[in-house]
Amino acid sequence: MNQKTTLAAAIAATALFTLSHGTTALATDKAAAKVDYTKMKPEALAEYLVFESGSFDLEQPTQEGTNGRARLTQDELMQLCTKAARSKKGLDAKTADKIRAMAQATIKYPEGGIKLGDWKKGRDLAWSGFGFRTAHNPDKHGPNNPPGANCYNCHQLATDRTGGDLGPSLTGFGKLRGNSPEMLKYAYDVIYNPHVYFACTYMPRLGANGVLTPEQIADVMAYLFDPESPVNK
Ligand code: HEC
Repeated sequence: MNQKTTLAAAIAATALFTLSHGTTALATDKAAAKVDYTKMKPEALAEYLVFESGSFDLEQPTQEGTNGRARLTQDELMQLCTKAARSKKGLDAKTADKIRAMAQATIKYPEGGIKLGDWKKGRDLAWSGFGFRTAHNPDKHGPNNPPGANCYNCHQLATDRTGGDLGPSLTGFGKLRGNSPEMLKYAYDVIYNPHVYFACTYMPRLGANGVLTPEQIADVMAYLFDPESPVNK
């Protein structure tokens, strides 16, 4: 997902709420004293709050071995998407093509081709939001164990539990679409780096960002495609 932009927006929203209700002082008084954030545009305010106000621990270690600052700094693809989102004409065809090509270049395919893994492991991954979180108190558990694919936050998956609706429902995925090699490749690509098909989507780049290994993607795919999976019941 556009996690950086969303986080910045969320922090900005909190700050604006605080400002309009005049209750809590923003960040530290020291930082606030230097800057007149009431005159900032929302984007500038978000940047200020995340990177300069001192309200976020930018040095905190992340599970992928970097720090909070690296996590919150947009890479080239995200910068292009943010720029497009802020421009009047939106995402133009040329930039969309560039983003798709950049995304495609990140995808690594498993040796021996794309196969389905274990749907039960995939279910556990899909319904977990644990791991890889940055916040004021980052997770303490070990690297990538257990990882959270977080699919449930945005997708309805199986009818035995309730998922989110930011993304389309994936209920009955394999039953409705079959499991041709093309369909398996499509699903693998979308999970690995969805910008190949949906330039500037909110869906995270789970393979490209190292949240899921190719084996774990195979497990999540089994959850989507296996006839025995609750997704297809
Ligand atoms: C932060 C929200 C978010 C998360 C987390 C997320 N997705 Fe998505 N996903 C989306 C959105 C939004 C779309 C629609 C693409 C678009 O138009 O941006 C999508 C599209 C898809 C599609 C294509 C839909 C179709 O009908 O062909 C698949 C497959 C998919 N997601 C699978 C997953 C899986 C599996 C996971 C977990 C590994 C996941 N998504 C995690 C938001 C999310």
